[in-house]
Amino acid sequence: MRAGAPAVVDLRATRVQAAPDPASLLSALPVAVVLLDAHDRVRFANQAAEHFFGVSLLQLAQLRLSEIVAADNPLFLLLRQVRTQDVTASDHDLTLEGPRLRCTVASVRATLLPEEPGCVLLTVQDASAARSLGRQLTFRSAARSVTGMAAILAHEVKNPLSGIRGAAQLLEGSVNETDRELTVLIRDEADRIRALVDRMEVFGEKPIERGAVNIHRVLEHVRRLAQTGFAAHIQFMEAYDPSLPPVLGNRDQLVQVILNLVKNAAEALVTAEHLEPEIRLGTGFQHGISLAAPGHTNRMHLPLVVSVTDNGPGIPDDIRPNMFDPFVTSKSTGSGLGLALVAKIISEHGGLVEVDSRPGRTEFRLHLPMMTEDQD
Ligand SMILES: Nc1ncnc2c1ncn2[C@@H]1O[C@H](COP(=O)(O)OP(=O)(O)OP(=O)(O)O)[C@@H](O)[C@H]1O
Ligand SMILES: [Mg+2]
Repeated sequence: MRAGAPAVVDLRATRVQAAPDPASLLSALPVAVVLLDAHDRVRFANQAAEHFFGVSLLQLAQLRLSEIVAADNPLFLLLRQVRTQDVTASDHDLTLEGPRLRCTVASVRATLLPEEPGCVLLTVQDASAARSLGRQLTFRSAARSVTGMAAILAHEVKNPLSGIRGAAQLLEGSVNETDRELTVLIRDEADRIRALVDRMEVFGEKPIERGAVNIHRVLEHVRRLAQTGFAAHIQFMEAYDPSLPPVLGNRDQLVQVILNLVKNAAEALVTAEHLEPEIRLGTGFQHGISLAAPGHTNRMHLPLVVSVTDNGPGIPDDIRPNMFDPFVTSKSTGSGLGLALVAKIISEHGGLVEVDSRPGRTEFRLHLPMMTEDQD
């Protein structure tokens, strides 16, 4: 050991001694934390809660939740769900309003405390604060504005597409075995786009056809496409949870979503002229995320998480607030439609998109519904 270098054991000991007590940690948290008893009375609240609800801690402790938030607020549905189904649930864009509370859109997470029957721990975060941290939710408005364009796109894409497909089919007869794989790939992709375009043309008239989709096959398909084309120089890593059940979704649309995300990641890495460009594809479970579908009161569980992560430069600051809107792009040849389409498709699946981005690490996470037996 170098002279003067501290021993590992000593360092640990110092850390343990220096650990502050949990109460002061709670009060320093920037997230509002409220503990409700079985009758929705406030049993505990931290300082961020005081700030968020605009009520002093002393007053908060004497109130019921219905005196802080209007009694018909969907928050009460969320609480009921947590208590009756014994799950952790969250809502990412809940509008909270009440006699003392200015109208605020918040991310709320509710969880049962096993050691305190009936008690629910709420964490509440101002959604605008969440956004400034670089998290983005699926923008339904963005989804809507894309649909106006769908018909034009569909029309413009179909003709050249059948030409491409025909040419690939002709080539198939004259090329060797290895190249034939590529022509088949072209044909399959043309068919996939055709199916997607057909779907876009009738947008709004017909609900999308959804079924059991093996998301790992989707990811592998996209990886193969990327590695034979635009991402040949990029290292791909996979962190899959093999026990993941099928997604309730539309296979072609999900290919489109992952392809758009992987393409963006690859393009970000090219611009950065990265020495070790890497794209990581991941899947996993995350319990507790649920979302009310637009116009519905029942909430959809979104336990499946699919992530696409790159080690590129991060999303430019000026793009971030609107990156899911159509035509927002930082690329000279970009159309700015990739993420708008991602937002639209995931929103139609009842899912959610989250983004965390900083220099060196950009992660897009899709939260998706699971196929359950009664949907077979
Ligand atoms: N992984 C990423 N890393 C850095 N920036 C990103 C990433 N993904 C998206 N962006 C930023 O978001 C913008 C919008 O992306 P989007 O896919 O919607 O459009 P585009 O890639 O510019 O064009 P198109 O996808 O239509 O070819 C991009 O121009 C880029 O600035
Ligand atoms: Mg793109």
